[in-house]
Amino acid sequence: MINAATRHELTLLAAGQPWLPAVLLAGRAAKPIRKIPKLGWFVADPLVARQIYNDSTHFSIVSEGAAGHWWAQVIGDWVEDLFEGPGHTELRTKVRDLFTAGHTDALVDGVLGPALKQLSADLAAGQTVDIAERARVLVGRSVSDLVGMQPADIAAIFAEDGAVLTDEDPDQPFRILFEHVEELVNLAMGTMASTTLDPVAVARARTLATKLATSVPAAYERADPSTTLGRCRELGLELEHASGLAILMAVAGTDTLASAMTRMVALLHDSGHHRELLAHPERMPDAVRETLRVTSPAYLVGRSVTADVEIAGRRLLAGEHVKILTWSINNAAGSFSIHRDYNPETRQLWFGGGRHLCVGVQLVHSEMTALLEALTADGRPWEIVERRYRRKVFIPTYETLRIRLAP
Ligand code: HEM
Repeated sequence: MINAATRHELTLLAAGQPWLPAVLLAGRAAKPIRKIPKLGWFVADPLVARQIYNDSTHFSIVSEGAAGHWWAQVIGDWVEDLFEGPGHTELRTKVRDLFTAGHTDALVDGVLGPALKQLSADLAAGQTVDIAERARVLVGRSVSDLVGMQPADIAAIFAEDGAVLTDEDPDQPFRILFEHVEELVNLAMGTMASTTLDPVAVARARTLATKLATSVPAAYERADPSTTLGRCRELGLELEHASGLAILMAVAGTDTLASAMTRMVALLHDSGHHRELLAHPERMPDAVRETLRVTSPAYLVGRSVTADVEIAGRRLLAGEHVKILTWSINNAAGSFSIHRDYNPETRQLWFGGGRHLCVGVQLVHSEMTALLEALTADGRPWEIVERRYRRKVFIPTYETLRIRLAP
């Protein structure tokens, strides 16, 4: 029997891409690994997934079928070094200290603090608030820090795309930034069988990526060390690497994070666990972890086989594609519950694994926790007044999730 929280999640996935729930649910039968004609090997086992993540001799992130291949068409072949060559090792070593817990908490406080306080105040005053919209703005603010863009920069950079700023709405630049990153991410739709983009998509993706990087050089030179680019400079990252990293972070951490934030609010409500969270605030880390497990916004992670290899008793051949079904693996444990313990087998597979483990793990935890703190500040549970799912998006999410505090 499917509960309300799961039903909404599956409907949301279908709104984003109609085939998604069927593939992700059926994907469980691929455990541990199964070949699907025309698509490649589907992996639905946590240990096999980790084995692949940790094997960079036989699996690549930059060949056809994986994210780095998509990126190389957009920002150039040099990105291969950033993803897999010596540049990647150097980059990961240097950015190890980029997002420590102390820094991300301070960053979230500085970049999102006032907007989150406003959210708490609006809710406490009895207003109905659209969490999906607020999450897009919050993440837009976070991205503006990652790429070093001030509101005025955003207006100027996206002016030719029809962006006109009005003085009345201070959130507007961040909404515009979010929408442009989302447009770039959505260009990855239809890459299930092949990551080779058509020329029109490549041209648009290049334009958007170039715009996103516009402010990086100036911000890198002058930014305060409390900002991400200022910190990159202090950590000794070269400008080219800082610039590549900034675009990657902006794209990897926009739709995924906004989706997780909004779905967290819905999941807590639909499961009834928002009341338990209010009674047991020490369960906040569990609520964040469970949200990431159940939503697994990066629902499928691609790799390509670069040399023949045997995995879980099956022979994978060079040139074949692998799809790690992170959503299917993580959801096999059951539905959302803040009482579910950490699972050492899946660990945090929603963030990938091995050398490409998500750079933003700590930032995601800080942002999601800060949002929960803002929501629970008043001590009253929330109710959902209206919800609509966002249609035709690469990372499924809510279009609208209007909530208000219970009287
Ligand atoms: C809920 C939000 C997020 C989820 C679910 C998520 C998930 C992931 C996953 C699964 C990967 C591995 C991809 C692969 O192996 O092919 C990854 C990589 C990455 N993520 Fe995240 N991510 C999130 C937010 C963020 C944020 C906020 C940032 C930036 C601050 C970020 C930056 C990156 C970068 C730069 C990589 C590439 C790392 C590398 O190749 O070494 N992500 N993410």
